[in-house]
Amino acid sequence: MAAASSARHASLSSPPSSSSSSISQSRATAAAASPRSPSPRSSPRRSGSVLEHTDRAGKVDIGKEIEQQRRQRQDLESKAKSGLVGFDKFVRSNPLTDRFKVLCFHHVELWCGDATNTWRRFSWGLGMPLVAKSDQTTGNHVYCSYALQSEDLVLVFSAPYSDKHRYQPASPPPHPAMTKPAMLDFFDAHGLAVRAVGVRVEDAATAFRTSVEHGAIAVLEPTTMHDVHSGQELVLSEVALYGDVVLRFVSGGFDGPFLPGYERVSPPPFSSSPSGLGVGLCRLDHAVGNVHNLLDAARYVAGFTGFHEFAEFTAEDIGTCESGLNSMVLASNNEMVLLPMNEPVHGTRRKSQIQTYLDHNEGPGLQHLAISCRDIFHTLREMRMRSHIGGFEFMPRPNKKYYKDLPERIGSSLTPEQVEMCEELGILVDKDDQGILLQIFTKPVGDRPTLFLEIIQRVGCMEENVQRGGCGGFGKGNFSALFKSIEDYEKTLER
Ligand SMILES: [Fe+2]
Repeated sequence: MAAASSARHASLSSPPSSSSSSISQSRATAAAASPRSPSPRSSPRRSGSVLEHTDRAGKVDIGKEIEQQRRQRQDLESKAKSGLVGFDKFVRSNPLTDRFKVLCFHHVELWCGDATNTWRRFSWGLGMPLVAKSDQTTGNHVYCSYALQSEDLVLVFSAPYSDKHRYQPASPPPHPAMTKPAMLDFFDAHGLAVRAVGVRVEDAATAFRTSVEHGAIAVLEPTTMHDVHSGQELVLSEVALYGDVVLRFVSGGFDGPFLPGYERVSPPPFSSSPSGLGVGLCRLDHAVGNVHNLLDAARYVAGFTGFHEFAEFTAEDIGTCESGLNSMVLASNNEMVLLPMNEPVHGTRRKSQIQTYLDHNEGPGLQHLAISCRDIFHTLREMRMRSHIGGFEFMPRPNKKYYKDLPERIGSSLTPEQVEMCEELGILVDKDDQGILLQIFTKPVGDRPTLFLEIIQRVGCMEENVQRGGCGGFGKGNFSALFKSIEDYEKTLER
């Protein structure tokens, strides 16, 4: 643990200090803001009172809403004709066009062949204790489901039981649509994959109704779940996101572990404190999907959510790699729910890595989950210690030149000692006009070259002790190094 302790000392999130191994949020912001200020972000993002297009009496301002929808539609339609403009020409603004109030990510659920072994692997690799379960021991004879939690990050792993096992349960399973055929078909097509991106909304019934009215494909009608112990309720509803992945709306006042019907697992098998086995993961930052046609998918998701475009990248932004992709990031009003999507670009020397995903996943699906932490040096030391004993392996480090050139590319945002630690741990660094992004990618987490994880730390962009979403961008400056390493990895699968 000595190594972990020294990493903690050099935390990027430390308060301002004279130590050469620490960096303050304000310093990062100032350093990052210098190349392209003033910020292209529009001011509405800071006027929280207009998040909903309502007047003081709470009535919807129909004229304003229609105008915003028209503008958003026009935007995406003109992109459909002219294509994406790319990172440099894209001007970021936040028109606050959400159709219903979206708060934050709530959880992510993966459907598995064997949930028990999968949750144990993720629990160890990510330092996340089991907090809730629904299985035969709790009266669920249809499927088993296990929820892990580290701060605001909740990952759930579910798999079906045999339906030859007939047992009349005392109560129905928590989720009404999780059946053996649905779960087996999903696993058969995709392997280990994300089924649901859970988002906390103000009202899951309104979110569902509004989404369906605006073109969303309905998957689960609003369903109220009751907690027999506390009497609290939670409402779930689902619409199609892309492929077989659903966007799951969650609302209500339930404060137990995960969802009503799940049994609390207590005490957790290990602590997330620095002295425990937790690695310090905080929350889901963004959830990225791979699709066949980016503009169609973006128009569909933006159409029913009202989400605005936060960033875009084209094959040209990616640089000299052999395979290509286009990417667009959609964001909620508060920019705490970020949904990037990628499409393959064809005609390059190698098959696009997105096409490789689409082939192996048998269609669109969730490509990676970006998980944020407060001290990436500590998190990476802990995760790397577990890499070869059941944890997650990482993509190969960039070459020495990447780290030699880093100070020139990011200025004085990191101390020489921190750059050295980035090199030792294989962490990539980038910045945008707002802040700094430190990131690293795992190898695919399952059998197929599909789903992987990204571990990130964002530095800067603090507003009243809250960090703005997407601070530091998505690693555009690392695309070349990153995609080269993905291509090299894919070559190892072609023997
Ligand atoms: Fe990412």
